[in-house]
Amino acid sequence: MEKALVLGAAGQIGTELVAALRARMGQENVIATDLRAEALEEPCFALNAMDEAALRDLVQTHEITQVYHLVAMLSATGEKMPEKAWELNMMTLFHVLNLAKEGHLKRVFWPSSIAAFGPNTPAVDTPQYSPMDPTTVYGISKLAGELWCQYYHDKYGVDVRSIRYPGLISWKTLPGGGTTDYAIDIFHAARREGAYTSFLAANTRLPMMHMEDAIRATLSLMEAPVDQIKIRSSYNVSGVDFTPAELAESMRRHYPDLAMTYAPDFRQAIASSWPQRMDDGKAREDWGWQPSYTLDRMVDDMVAHI
Ligand code: SER
Repeated sequence: MEKALVLGAAGQIGTELVAALRARMGQENVIATDLRAEALEEPCFALNAMDEAALRDLVQTHEITQVYHLVAMLSATGEKMPEKAWELNMMTLFHVLNLAKEGHLKRVFWPSSIAAFGPNTPAVDTPQYSPMDPTTVYGISKLAGELWCQYYHDKYGVDVRSIRYPGLISWKTLPGGGTTDYAIDIFHAARREGAYTSFLAANTRLPMMHMEDAIRATLSLMEAPVDQIKIRSSYNVSGVDFTPAELAESMRRHYPDLAMTYAPDFRQAIASSWPQRMDDGKAREDWGWQPSYTLDRMVDDMVAHI
């Protein structure tokens, strides 16, 4: 009998992943936790994932078999408090990996990100194995985390699985503190004001993905037979890629008068160091990854719900 624990369940990914897991495994078999539990549906608990003893207690009391670790300080916020970001992103990962190493967990999901790449990574069709020289604390923590996941798999047999998520586009829960957040902010601004000032320049191309695709990728990876998982650091996955100008153009099918201005800030340098489009051939080969959203379809869905 599988029982899942989601850390960071009230966040942008957590909100939708918890619902998807509950639809598959049954409501009572998926425990949602976050720093604050008010926004969560039962069964849920308030949990600070930094609190190793509380986490261990929850895993043991509820006989958890899988953890989805979604706790992180993202790229833009992390730059404002580098040491805190490092501590949060790394310590919580170690807590979970160690529980798995001790045999308490059968499987772990931990997300990496396009942020693990850097200025010397080939930006177009970024290969799975590329130079990686991240410039943000968040990116450094993702690259280090990927290697620790691989290490725990190779040395201790931990079944940990990971995806390098692109920027994730969703309407249910707002993202917080990322560099790709503009691509969600713009929909709220278009509806409220008919205008948006982008903190990234017009031609900044980034890999992005509709949340529905991201959840499907996560579940496919976690449900794949163990012998299909050949990469234990983290898999490149691709959805769509676009620039702020291209996104605005697609949105003008719904908001013909949408006015754009561009005022790049410190996040421009972060975005410029990331890939524009990733080659996700390994994910396609190993566990059958296939994205389903195009830019226009993603825009239509966002406009319909925001
Ligand atoms: N969306 C994240 C960020 O912008 C990248 O993983 O920080």
